[in-house]
Amino acid sequence: MALNVVMLGPPGAGKGTQAERFAREHGIPKISTGDILREAVQSGSELGRAVEAVMERGELVSDELITGIVRERLGRPDVAGGFVLDGFPRTVPQAEALDGIVAGRHPLIVIEMQVPDEELVRRVQARRVCRACGTNVSAFGSNPSAVVRCETCGGELVTRSDDTEAVVRERLRVYWRDTRPMIEYYGRRPTFRAIDGAQGPDEVWQALVGAVMAVAAEAGLSVPPGARP
Ligand code: AP5
Repeated sequence: MALNVVMLGPPGAGKGTQAERFAREHGIPKISTGDILREAVQSGSELGRAVEAVMERGELVSDELITGIVRERLGRPDVAGGFVLDGFPRTVPQAEALDGIVAGRHPLIVIEMQVPDEELVRRVQARRVCRACGTNVSAFGSNPSAVVRCETCGGELVTRSDDTEAVVRERLRVYWRDTRPMIEYYGRRPTFRAIDGAQGPDEVWQALVGAVMAVAAEAGLSVPPGARP
């Protein structure tokens, strides 16, 4: 039985954080389109050069380009036991394309994480990312500039170039304009659930696992032990 999970939500909702944990606990790949694009930018590849400016403005790269990347990724054998999609789809055409890509597989379990805008801006502005291992750290508190080294590997912590307040607000504007209608597209399905993402990470995890289990049970899928809270 494959758990094919799609994590939806605005920038900073915690999609990546929860997707990472879910994927690790189930031994399935986390497929983050944001990570794939950032790696391409860092490597200086043709793809990276094509998307860098778009990402820095907080806009979306084209449906055609991103769908091609996901189609190729979901064609690899390691997704046979399931996958967690983080950051894709983000528009109705991407969602329609995904339906075509996964036709004939186990149903998509679609989870929307809901968080108020001001909390999103706060989280994203506090985010630091390790340049070496990619770990996310939250630099909340009185002296956020003191958080400079990764606790996992000692690497340098940096701010993502699209995490400035102005770009985050643009990403939110794009989210409400382009992505929110897509969530309505999924909202009519029995395999869709919305969860409260404004709680602490462990509470969000419990809500995520509970929602996935409920959908899987209703869809007649057996849930592996690792999925239980
Ligand atoms: P992407 O990387 O996907 O960015 P995003 O969707 O804006 O999401 P974020 O990574 O900002 O947030 P998240 O929800 O993953 O939250 P996280 O767990 O990190 O995309 C970047 C860009 O790439 C896009 O703008 C676009 O240009 C392009 N792109 C990507 N996919 C595309 C597509 N499909 N189509 C077109 N273009 C595409 O958490 C955020 C912070 O909060 C972290 O510091 C974390 O530690 C903290 N945190 C997490 N959970 C909690 C909690 N419960 N309480 C408190 N803090 C928390």
